[in-house]
Amino acid sequence: MKNKATNTQIIAEHLAKRFDIRNTDFSKADSREYLCDNLIPSDIFVIAGNGAVLETNHGKLFDLSSMSLNCILGQNDPWVNASIQAYIASGRPSFHSTRVGSEIYYEVAELIAKVSGIQNPVVNHRQCNGSDVTELAILAAYQHKDKDRELLVSFRGSYYGQNLTSFIASDLQTQNRFLLTEEPSIYFLDAPDNFLPGSSENLSSNDIKTLDELRTIASKSFAVIIEPIQMSNMVNVCNPSFLKELKTICEKFDIQLIFDDIQTGFGWLGTFSSASFFDVYPNLLAVSKALTAGYGPLSSLVMDKRYKDLPMSTVLKTNGADLRSLVAARAVIERLRGVPKEYIPSDLSTDFRHELEVGLFFSFKNKVEILEQCVQTLKQQCASRLGNMRGCGLIRCVEVIDNHGHPDPETCKKIQEQLLQSGVLVRSVKHGLLFKIPIVITDQELHEAFDIVGSVIRRFS
Ligand SMILES: Cc1ncc(COP(=O)(O)O)c(C=O)c1O
Repeated sequence: MKNKATNTQIIAEHLAKRFDIRNTDFSKADSREYLCDNLIPSDIFVIAGNGAVLETNHGKLFDLSSMSLNCILGQNDPWVNASIQAYIASGRPSFHSTRVGSEIYYEVAELIAKVSGIQNPVVNHRQCNGSDVTELAILAAYQHKDKDRELLVSFRGSYYGQNLTSFIASDLQTQNRFLLTEEPSIYFLDAPDNFLPGSSENLSSNDIKTLDELRTIASKSFAVIIEPIQMSNMVNVCNPSFLKELKTICEKFDIQLIFDDIQTGFGWLGTFSSASFFDVYPNLLAVSKALTAGYGPLSSLVMDKRYKDLPMSTVLKTNGADLRSLVAARAVIERLRGVPKEYIPSDLSTDFRHELEVGLFFSFKNKVEILEQCVQTLKQQCASRLGNMRGCGLIRCVEVIDNHGHPDPETCKKIQEQLLQSGVLVRSVKHGLLFKIPIVITDQELHEAFDIVGSVIRRFS
């Protein structure tokens, strides 16, 4: 066993020059013909990354979208990097089937279960993506439904992924349905009204109407699936009162409540789950993305114990115990809530030791305040081009409007493209610029990046 670890180290040292960033081979971009159209990147070539900043052939790139909404810790987080390196060098198994257990296999399930906030939970963790885990959540609810209940309730503006189940349940995937000859039993309610944190939590008349509509179909419905913040619907944040009332209705009518927490779980809101953030707890909570912070595919379904008996062919995946993903998930949890003192080396800088010890959630409020200032300044500086600001925590959206104050998706797309060329990565959806900021971003980086955003948007004024 020891020999194996030593061989790994010798080879790794030898291979270091292969990955040396000074030897970056830009000619590899010539292979773009092997990619599908939608996967061909821009002419920006990424060389290195550190936290929220990437080094590219075009210079510095601030990542304000956490690399496709995944990397809560930005790039190359030292704690996660080192945890994976140490694990790989240790001689412990690099992979095992779910038929045998290991320390990390059990430990991570327990950790995820505990931090989720779900009462009396069990976990199905699987090496897969978000689509698979929302599918599993719907399937778990279906397995436990009463026989005369056929409706799955979803919402306009929803997006749960890219497999058949997600296609049929997502309003935004209606155009991509295939292999389905009958209308599936999905009932779409209106999207909840967007909630501005800090405003009154009284329900809007639309939200009241939506919940009343749910009551009328409640006896036929077996589950409701909802994203507490619809990222792909321009960061549409549910009013906490809406979620509370939704939960009350679900309990009263014995409907199973599913939260798709794939965009919102593991850090973006300063909590491990949107359930803890909103203080509303579903029966099934689907998490992914930030769970490994981009260090490997892993998603988890956290659910109450009654779902313990899911059928064999639905809960097992070939890569269900991918250990590097599990090691990453444990390291992400530690990084966010603090690393046990005994694991922190004494020869790190005092500041970094302190950050590791207290965890990144410790300074979350402060970071969000700075982000809030940046967003408000942006709004003032670009008043003629920007409409409402939406979102909370590290998840934000600014609406791009035209001279008449109407939504302007075309300009929004152009702004996004120019931002990329000017050194800031954001996403856009409809007329919204989406920001999902890695929690490790420094105050200075935030200011610098938002200065660029402001100057690019002003070009369109
Ligand atoms: C809310 C939500 N659910 C599910 C998914 C599907 O995740 P994946 O792309 O990993 O399959 C996504 C993807 O962006 C998402 O935003």
